[in-house]
Amino acid sequence: MRIILLGPPGAGKGTQAKVLAKRLTLPHISTGDILRQNVSGNTTLGIKAKDFMNKGALVPDELVTQMLIERIDQPDTEKGFILDGYPRTLKQAEDLDNILKGRNAAIDFAVYLDTSGPVIIQRLSGRRVCSKCGLNFHIKNMPPKVDMLCDNCGGPLYQRGDDKEETIKKRVAVYKQESASLIEHYRDKQKLKCLNADGDAEGVLNKIILMAKEIDGSLKV
Ligand code: AP5
Repeated sequence: MRIILLGPPGAGKGTQAKVLAKRLTLPHISTGDILRQNVSGNTTLGIKAKDFMNKGALVPDELVTQMLIERIDQPDTEKGFILDGYPRTLKQAEDLDNILKGRNAAIDFAVYLDTSGPVIIQRLSGRRVCSKCGLNFHIKNMPPKVDMLCDNCGGPLYQRGDDKEETIKKRVAVYKQESASLIEHYRDKQKLKCLNADGDAEGVLNKIILMAKEIDGSLKV
């Protein structure tokens, strides 16, 4: 099964994708995570991407798409994947269709996690991420059991550099600019499913699982 999670920054794409990937035993592919690994590893891609990310702008399509192709071509994606953060532009969506077509594959569905403005700000300003395993926490909504340490691996939590108020506003503006055509793309292909993602994480997850089961009734979750 190949699922895309769409939605504004803070919609919960990463949070949902991590759990969904475990439940469906599929890899979670997050272009944001891969880019951040490249930035911290000071790779050529990371050096090129860093300034765009710090400003809350999109990294150019050709860089991200090449990075995605390399990830999709790894053997663990044979049975599918949960895609988080890609596509972000209509060009990326069209490229993804072509990449998958070339591999005799297609997206099963794209879920749009509809999230309101105040919820986005509250979630992103309180987000803390594990520096070792990447698990997401929130200082109020999903606090770790021990202050600033990861429940999963004990790693120290940090605040993402782009979770500052000014950068959050820019990221949301960029998202709004690109999202309409992206959503239309999947609606036209009858692959779009929408859900209100303002509610609690477990409720949102259960709805996504139901959507997956509608597509494949034999799915073991
Ligand atoms: P990326 O890392 O993809 O960031 P984003 O899309 O801005 O999304 P976020 O990670 O901020 O939010 P999320 O929806 O995953 O929310 P989360 O689950 O963490 O991209 C970062 C940057 O990389 C981009 O700005 C761009 O520069 C570049 N980039 C990446 N992909 C690109 C591409 N394809 N093309 C070009 N450039 C690209 O949740 C947020 C917080 O809320 C957490 O604290 C969580 O605990 C909490 N939370 C989540 N769900 C709930 C809930 N239901 N109830 C209460 N709290 C919740």
